[in-house]
This record gives sequence, structure tokens and C-alpha cells, in this order.
Amino acid sequence: MPLLDIYRNLPVEVVGGEGCRLYDFNGKKYIDLTSGLGVNILGYNVPEINQVLSRAHSVLHVSNLFLDRLKEGIASRLERLTGMDYTFFTNSGTEAVEASIKFAWKTKKGKIIAFEGSFHGRTLGSWSLSHILRNQQFPGINAEIEFIPFDRPEILEKNSDAAILIFEPIQGSGGVRPISSEMAEAIKSIQRRGVIVIADEVQSGMGRTGEFICSQHYGIKPDIVLLGKGLGGGLPLGAVLVNKSIAENVKRGEHGSTMGGNHLALMLSRVFLDRIENGLMERVGELGRYVFEQYREGFDLRGKGLFIGIETNQEDMDLKLLERGFIVSVVRRNIIRLLPPYIIDIAIIDKFFNELQEVCLEGG
Ligand SMILES: Cc1ncc(COP(=O)(O)O)c(C=O)c1O
Repeated sequence: MPLLDIYRNLPVEVVGGEGCRLYDFNGKKYIDLTSGLGVNILGYNVPEINQVLSRAHSVLHVSNLFLDRLKEGIASRLERLTGMDYTFFTNSGTEAVEASIKFAWKTKKGKIIAFEGSFHGRTLGSWSLSHILRNQQFPGINAEIEFIPFDRPEILEKNSDAAILIFEPIQGSGGVRPISSEMAEAIKSIQRRGVIVIADEVQSGMGRTGEFICSQHYGIKPDIVLLGKGLGGGLPLGAVLVNKSIAENVKRGEHGSTMGGNHLALMLSRVFLDRIENGLMERVGELGRYVFEQYREGFDLRGKGLFIGIETNQEDMDLKLLERGFIVSVVRRNIIRLLPPYIIDIAIIDKFFNELQEVCLEGG
């Protein structure tokens, strides 16, 4: 039976990996600068992860019917890293978005604001909050939704009558665009006036920008934070972190998930958090500073840490770079998005930018 034709696949069949590298069926090596779309943060063939997998034994899944110390332990670490108060685990980013709307709605009902250029996922609720998907209509959530221009903080300021704001500190699929400091101030201002602020950090969190969540760069303390992608060390795991005042209004039975917070994913999450809390996040900050200092002149760069966008004047850059052995993703047709594993080294970064320059020159 064929697969639904939903994705344009790169012509590579991956059979193995090591560090930042992937191997295909013919033994050809590629440098993966996407980390499997932001998931394989520690790279491939990670000894500590292999160790956990080899020790995984009788219980791979403990349903939410039971107390789970592992789950509580990961939640406490997320509390320490983000300053949030309570956690609910999901299997994916989009599930975290769906849950967050329900949790926020329990505290305040009314208009929901999102930004132009936003992407929050592809289930019906998150789809309807994703501005870049707005031309393809599906039934969505039953609430008024208003999209605000990404670079007009004064318009956001006028919307303090809204109930909820959801935003990405760095828009990923929308073109790797960080919010401006003026927009950050507008977000804090409407939050002070009672709007519930949800930071969708599914792509920008987990240390990707050199802070555990990107909101921390801006001094924003969201009411709700959403995590996903690499949180589960390569297995599906997302999280909704909420503050006390949101948690107080969420009652038993109002949400749930059979697999959310799967035991094995949490075991790998522990490995990921160990590395993050033992210097890996600082390394991300250093590498990011290197990239932006070294290559700002020659390239149209934006982002923070290892969340990097490069605007080019060409399309199909993913295919052109693949020929040279680099896996990248492209957003908005001509913007290369890099989400490399945090273990990447400077030699690989330099090699990539040299080759990118050649591809740009070849393309005119
Ligand atoms: C900002 C943001 N939110 C939500 C999602 C949805 O996450 P998932 O694909 O795990 O459902 C993504 C996925 O790329 C994302 O980048």
C-alpha cells in the first residue's frame, strides 16, 4: 500500500548515523543540519542513549493511572529550568498546543490572538492558529481568532481586550524571525493587563537558543510554555508547563492522553536534560555567537543560538546542498533553516558556510 503523498521526500534513504552525520544505503555520508527537524539534539548513536535503550526492560509504558516518580522528576527539572509551576506531558508539539488552548480557556474565555507568519501545528486547533496555513481551510476551534502583524507591537498593545495570545519567540516555519524587543515589551504589557500569554517553544525551546526557553532572552515570563521536538531525546514527548493560576482552573478529566509522558521517552529525556544541565546549553550559546559574528557580514542571517535562518535568492537550496552532503530544511521557499545537533563543532560549521557560499555564487 503506498503512503499518502503528504511530504516531498529528499532522495536519501537513511540507514545509520554517528554524531552529526547520517549514512545512506550506498554508504554516502551527509551532515545533518536539521537534527531530524529539531529532534536529535544530541546527534546520532549517542552512548548514553544506547545504554538506556539496552537497559530498557519489562515496563516501557506506565499509563497516567499510576504515580510515576520518573515523570515527577522530569517535571521538577523543567520547573527549575523554566520557573513554571506545573507540567502536563504530551506526545507531540501540536498536542501541547491543543492542551494549552483548553487550559488557558478555563481561566479566560474570549478572543485568541496569534501572529502573522505563525505556525503552531497541524491538528485542527493548532492549524487554525497557524497563519501560514490559513489558505487551506478546515473546521477549527470555536473562538474568534485574530492574526496581528509580527512587526507591529502598537497593534498588539491595542488588543489587551483579548483573552489569550499564542506566539513563537522565533517564528520557525514562518521564516526564522525572532520577535523584536519592542514586541517583547508589548507582550509583557498586554500580559500585565490580563491577557494569558502562551509561548510556543516547541522549536525554540530545549536550549536551542542558548537559554532553556527563548522567552528568557526577552525577560518574558509566559503563563504557559509549550515544549516538544528534542525533549524526549529522540522519542515522542511534548509538555505543557503552566503557572499556578492556570493550574488552579484545570480539573480532573478535562484533558488526558494515553501515551503522553511515555516511560521510555522520559528515560531518554533524563539523558537529554543531564547533558543540557552539564554545559551543553552554554555550548549552544557560544556556537551561536560564533556563527553570527563570523558570518553576519557575508550572509543574510537571523535567529539565535543554533536556530539559524539564512535568506538566499534561490529556491531548492535543500536539494542543491544535499548534493554537497548537507541536509538542511527550507522555509518560505528561499530561507535555509538550520537546527543542527548541539554537538556540532566549528569545523563543520565553517565547512558548511564555505560550501554555501559556492552554491550561492554558482546560482548567481
Ligand atoms: C512552533 C511549533 N509549534 C508546534 C509544532 C508542532 O509540533 P509537532 O510536529 O510535534 O506536532 C511545531 C512543529 O514544527 C512548531 O515548530
